[in-house]
Amino acid sequence: MSTQPIGIFDSGVGGTSIWREIHALLPNENTLYLADSANAPYGPKGKKTIINLSIKNTEFLLNKNCKLIVVACNTATTNAIDYLRNTYDIPFIGIEPAIKPAALQTKTCAVGILATRGTLSSALFSKTSGLFASNINVVEQHGDGIVELIESGYLFSDEMTALLKQYLQPMMDANIDYLVLGCTHYPYLMPILLELLPKHVKIIDSGEAVAKQTKVVLEKHGLLNSSFLNPKNEFFTNRNPEVMKSLLGDKFDVGYQDF
Ligand code: SIN
Repeated sequence: MSTQPIGIFDSGVGGTSIWREIHALLPNENTLYLADSANAPYGPKGKKTIINLSIKNTEFLLNKNCKLIVVACNTATTNAIDYLRNTYDIPFIGIEPAIKPAALQTKTCAVGILATRGTLSSALFSKTSGLFASNINVVEQHGDGIVELIESGYLFSDEMTALLKQYLQPMMDANIDYLVLGCTHYPYLMPILLELLPKHVKIIDSGEAVAKQTKVVLEKHGLLNSSFLNPKNEFFTNRNPEVMKSLLGDKFDVGYQDF
């Protein structure tokens, strides 16, 4: 058993959607969440920059004695997780767009994927898509601007609705019946997406699968925390803490940290 915290990092506040799933499945684990919002979005950045930012975040979490790190960012996973796994001696859990379940379940043979440019252009995404979705129509759409609006506190805004309408149209034209959310910020769009999409379109993200995988890996390494003594959930950001507070609610404190 280990009371060391699970470390979670993202380019910003979006990875809290993953933290929620982990916290729901593993409520007695201590967690430490790091939002690199000052450098968000990672999506348009090159691979080398994304790796360097991921190293910086990892070092911060290792200095806080984390036992496992969840890279709660699709762009950082697809570009940097191999490097992190080859460099550091603790387990890393990554996020990949849930393209496989969508490809297996589609009836219209058309699936939409909304993700950042960095994720869509990555080798890992091409490999997954080629493996599981080569026989169906995958409508890829980059989500330029979405992360910026969320990070600036404009989640529910006219600009966001207009962007999403524009991004979803080619998918609806292609008659998709599954929409895959390929960025951890996007689950926060759910209320808007449900209004804009036809009822038969199912929306899937990777949060629950990532939480389950985190549990499996902790078990495998003998790192689960079975103590029920007031687990601590800490949140740090290097930008305005109010944005993350508005997503997490009053129960949790968010600290500003220059890193
Ligand atoms: C971004 O930083 O561009 C989005 C994060 C993600 O890909 O999950």
